[in-house]
Amino acid sequence: MGERVKGKVAIVTGAASGIGEATATLLAAEGASVVVADMNAEGAERVAAAIRAAGHKAVAQKTDVSSEADIQRMIGRAVSEFGGLHILHNNAAMTAGHEHANDLDLLTMTVDYWDRSFSVNLRGAMLAAKHGIPVMIQGGGGAIVNTSSNQSLAGDLSQFAYSAAKAGVNALTRSIATTYGRSGIRCNTVSPGHIATASSKASVSPEMSDAIIANNLIPRAGRAEDLAHAVLYLASDEASFVTGQLISIDGGQMAHLPHYSYLIASGAQTTNKAK
Ligand SMILES: NC(=O)c1ccc[n+]([C@@H]2O[C@H](COP(=O)([O-])OP(=O)(O)OC[C@H]3O[C@@H](n4cnc5c(N)ncnc54)[C@H](O)[C@@H]3O)[C@@H](O)[C@H]2O)c1
Repeated sequence: MGERVKGKVAIVTGAASGIGEATATLLAAEGASVVVADMNAEGAERVAAAIRAAGHKAVAQKTDVSSEADIQRMIGRAVSEFGGLHILHNNAAMTAGHEHANDLDLLTMTVDYWDRSFSVNLRGAMLAAKHGIPVMIQGGGGAIVNTSSNQSLAGDLSQFAYSAAKAGVNALTRSIATTYGRSGIRCNTVSPGHIATASSKASVSPEMSDAIIANNLIPRAGRAEDLAHAVLYLASDEASFVTGQLISIDGGQMAHLPHYSYLIASGAQTTNKAK
């Protein structure tokens, strides 16, 4: 298809479905050799096989991103299979509906759940950066893109652990960008709004989806490919002067004042007309 990341080696975590699958597929189509990493081994194999069937390069690597040993094996696979690492998309997170159901209320939050959420949703990105950055530096530099969430940017009525862990991802991005910029490492965050992946459709009710879309300036749910294109840009040399940034890919959900959907629905004016 294209050559925007030709010759680069990429790892995408959480790549067995949704945004990770779309990103792994696009990076491979644009010339990267991709390690499709996910704890869902069957899903990762399916995605890697589809990429290979399209004539591109990919291998599947079963990885639980909360495990340091698994992360070391994942980075090692990029090196043994493709000879290095240039692009790391930290995208895996606890997205299943039953996980979100544990995260509804602070007053009944268990310490175990809080810690598990942080171990996947934040520690996973830290571990991959910890073990990936030395390999990237050895190969002359690289680009890390972390997937956060708009829930890290404003309050909601649930998802206490998830939103706090994702806010940690935003901070981790800036620390990595600041510390390793002079060593050739760029690090940025993509922050999805409401993206209609299978897992999001399973956990977001139609009423909630409608309410979010009513607040989007582009009135639709996002698609996994919307994120993949942003990650491709940030991972490619086209973004060689971009680091430490957070970009919301959200149809403008976070770009306006909170009363936006009321004004649209009611036709009310923001200011009194001059008399
Ligand atoms: N879809 C949305 O509306 C939305 C909104 C905001 C943020 N996000 C973020 O985007 C990313 C992708 O979400 P998605 O909608 O594509 O979900 P998804 O469920 O399709 O993908 C998540 C993947 O992560 C994997 N995973 C879960 N725990 C893991 C672990 N411990 N180790 C390795 N892999 C693990 C799952 O198996 C799954 O394949 C996540 O970081 C999510 O928090 C999504």
